[in-house]
Amino acid sequence: MKARCSKTSHVTVQVPFKRVRKQSSPLAIRKSYLPFGQPNFSEKEIAAVTKVMRSGWVGMGAETLAFEKELAAFLDVPHVVTVNSCTSALFLSLLMAGVGPGDEVICPSMTWCSSANAAIYLGAVPVFADIDVATWSVTPQTIQEKLTRKTKAVVVVHFGGLALDIEAIRQVVPAGVAIIEDAAHAFGSRFVNGRYVGTSGNLTCFSFYANKNLSTGEGGAVALYDDEYADRIRSLRQHGLPLDAWKRFTHPHILLTNELHHLGYKMNYTDLQAAIGRAQLSRFLEMAAMRAQVAQYYVDALGEMIPAVRWQKGCTDPYHARHLFVVQLPLERLSGSRNDVVLALRARNIGAAIHYAPLHRMPLYCGQNQPPALPFTDAVSNSALTLPISAKMTLKDADYVAGQFMSILDGYRKTEG
Ligand SMILES: Cc1ncc(COP(=O)(O)O)c(C=O)c1O
Repeated sequence: MKARCSKTSHVTVQVPFKRVRKQSSPLAIRKSYLPFGQPNFSEKEIAAVTKVMRSGWVGMGAETLAFEKELAAFLDVPHVVTVNSCTSALFLSLLMAGVGPGDEVICPSMTWCSSANAAIYLGAVPVFADIDVATWSVTPQTIQEKLTRKTKAVVVVHFGGLALDIEAIRQVVPAGVAIIEDAAHAFGSRFVNGRYVGTSGNLTCFSFYANKNLSTGEGGAVALYDDEYADRIRSLRQHGLPLDAWKRFTHPHILLTNELHHLGYKMNYTDLQAAIGRAQLSRFLEMAAMRAQVAQYYVDALGEMIPAVRWQKGCTDPYHARHLFVVQLPLERLSGSRNDVVLALRARNIGAAIHYAPLHRMPLYCGQNQPPALPFTDAVSNSALTLPISAKMTLKDADYVAGQFMSILDGYRKTEG
């Protein structure tokens, strides 16, 4: 039988997008722009960074070491090694896993480019796995589909702050293939056993970038158990030198002269960032609670909408870190596209974003070739947008976003025809 191309142009929607909750003035546009993510810095961070500036030592030193110890204690892991970004953390972790030219590294396409680029830096090839539409994350099955004899590592992403089931993934990944966790969204996320992401035993990479749940402007870290890897990463982040700058300049007995044996990188953290990080960590649970309130507010408000938008599974569960609040639009019921909705939100001073434009369709990864078939990634990525969420937001902000979002969708609602 010949396939018929059906066009669903006449969708009938009788009930408008509606919201029961009363909003004071839904159409008044706020004066300031609300970014999709922003840090929450208090006087504590300002005082801490000022103290380090006044101390005369702003590079990597005692403050960085103290931050690493506090992070390790918070997460309950033996080692946390800070670096200048999560991108560097991913690169160094894949290096530890022995990834090199010709190897394949499985990762999602629905992620930031760093998750895949880290493999390319090492001469390896990223191989994209599809996602599950409820969690927006790779699954044991989608990983299994992409395993070959060349697979050397799997980079999994705890998307939006939802911790993946690492044990289930481990069941399908052969021994000798490393699992590296991209936890850029997941500082403070917990696994079903209640332990923080970072404690699985895999090398777990965090980001402290400007909009992250724990922010130091820029920065990243690897949480790990292996003593030898921890020492190697400590050395590689500082050119391959055996001791970091602080110890080199302050050690009472050792004067290092010609001690460079390995080629390393310049990927270290600084005490300025660590001072901010220590203050952020001390306020982390309070900030996480604010994110939880915003997510709950959105779910309550958007849950009243007909027809429904969908949000990520588990985003109001206690173990979710709520780095992103991502929704999927019922495009079949709208006359506008996802991009129309994003731009309409921006016109109302709401920093809506797109997480993500899928990597498998980008020329860097597919070149002139047909992109691989990732049907669920494509379906989600065409209809997804991110509403603002941060520990800086108030519930009044959340109410403004929810009200404007509904009013925009109502404007794009398909009418009977
Ligand atoms: C999933 C994911 N991985 C990695 C990164 C890279 O983090 P960084 O900017 O610290 O290098 C990001 C950044 O947003 C991210 O979202």
